[in-house]
Amino acid sequence: MADKVYIFDTTLRDGEQTAGVTLTFQEKLELAEQLKNLNVDIIEAGFPYASPGDFEAVKAISEKIKGPTICALARALPQDIDRAWEAIRHSQKPRIHTFISTSDVQIKHQLRKSREEVIEMAKAAVEKAKSYVKDVEFSAMDATRSDWDFLCQIFGAAIKAGATTINVPDTVGYILPSEFHKLIEYLFENTPGIDDVIVSVHCHNDLGLAVSNSLSALQAGARQVECTINGLGERAGNASLEEIVMIIDTRKDMLDLYTNINIGEIVRTSRLVSRMTGVPVQPNKAIVGDNAFAHQSGIHQDAILKERTTFEIIDPKRIGFHESRIVLGKLSGRHALRNRLEDLGYYLSDDQLNRAFIRFKELADRKKEISDRDLEALVENDVKTPAEHYKLDYIQVTTGNRLTPTATVGLRRNHTMREESAIGDGPVDAAYNAIDRITGLKTRLISFNVQAVTSGQDALGEVQVHLEVEGVRVTGRGISTDIVESSVRAYLNAINRYINVVKAEEDV
Ligand code: KIV
Ligand code: ZN
Repeated sequence: MADKVYIFDTTLRDGEQTAGVTLTFQEKLELAEQLKNLNVDIIEAGFPYASPGDFEAVKAISEKIKGPTICALARALPQDIDRAWEAIRHSQKPRIHTFISTSDVQIKHQLRKSREEVIEMAKAAVEKAKSYVKDVEFSAMDATRSDWDFLCQIFGAAIKAGATTINVPDTVGYILPSEFHKLIEYLFENTPGIDDVIVSVHCHNDLGLAVSNSLSALQAGARQVECTINGLGERAGNASLEEIVMIIDTRKDMLDLYTNINIGEIVRTSRLVSRMTGVPVQPNKAIVGDNAFAHQSGIHQDAILKERTTFEIIDPKRIGFHESRIVLGKLSGRHALRNRLEDLGYYLSDDQLNRAFIRFKELADRKKEISDRDLEALVENDVKTPAEHYKLDYIQVTTGNRLTPTATVGLRRNHTMREESAIGDGPVDAAYNAIDRITGLKTRLISFNVQAVTSGQDALGEVQVHLEVEGVRVTGRGISTDIVESSVRAYLNAINRYINVVKAEEDV
């Protein structure tokens, strides 16, 4: 009989460690809700000791999200474990995840301890966590660069102290799949008590091997995979949840494994994460990229039309890609819009629908046919933005190769209108300078990305910005058929996020 693989999602913790990504309290809750719909087994909600904002988010997720286990991360230190417990104590299924470095390089230079001291700290941390909760996970950070016998010793001690899951992280994404297979086998053969616990893996993608390594560990007997939506995470990221899950599903003939993931929610979750984090999904990304099911070659197209399975190993509809059946345009009504949005999985309140409908009509005036991607962009942009402290009223630019680019921007804040003009290196720079004059905030543009989200001359352009506002890194997205307007919307979206983050911290 096939064995179950537990899916441990760490998008809210390791995923939030992606450079330039900060999620607001509200976004964390919304994402946790969607992870529940995806039916992940464990949500690693955050690292409560790290900041008051993290603590509050983990606490709220523990109180509100029923179904999955809610896990909090803690270093192998008493104060971290106390704080983790405080954050998750009201969860239906709480877990404390404690970790310590085990490679000699990290023990010596980072911890400045001996191996014996590290074992004692691990034991004490697991015992303390166990005094609060039955479900305790222990991770040996940098396990794949650690001495194998030392790993067996520390995992044995953690199991004896009460750990129910032991995690083998490839923290720096260094190991090879064949080597990892041998390491997991070695641990199974030489760690006392290992047969009574779940063996987990947590692979980073520095060499592009995170998914292959996770798979290799599963083939050697691991039964929990730590992963993130879209492969987000520290540096080059973690193993991508959607790839792991679809490998297990597509190749069950070879693997004899299954997960409980609701695979129909995969695409929606991926889009939600991309929108919230401001990190685009590369078009050729396996499973969720825009091109993952796009057939360019005439030979392929012909074959696909005769029989889908000729060139497709996954039915895109199963994971949540939809095909348009009715074309929406400027004559379409509210009802048609609601139906189509519900087909796409967006269940809006009446107020949200009214707002989306206004934007839909504005867009339909500029664009003949509104595609599913347009609709998703529209809902993401207009319905699910963070609280809009500054709202764009208008923008006017003059530019040219013999003119100094100038922009005048009108913003509304609490029903008050503020207008400013500024010059810049180009129309976007001028608009950003005008906005800075209005908000009075100190900003630095770290990156600016523009892409077409739909096709055709009237395509919607999406701009993503990474900004530093008063020293805090935030991302923003904006969508419009006009590229200067998208740029301004992205900038304001980032500023509104910054204000939300600061407000959330003040409220704590
Ligand atoms: O990469 C890593 O080792 C981690 C641990 C905290 C599990 O993220
Ligand atoms: Zn990690």
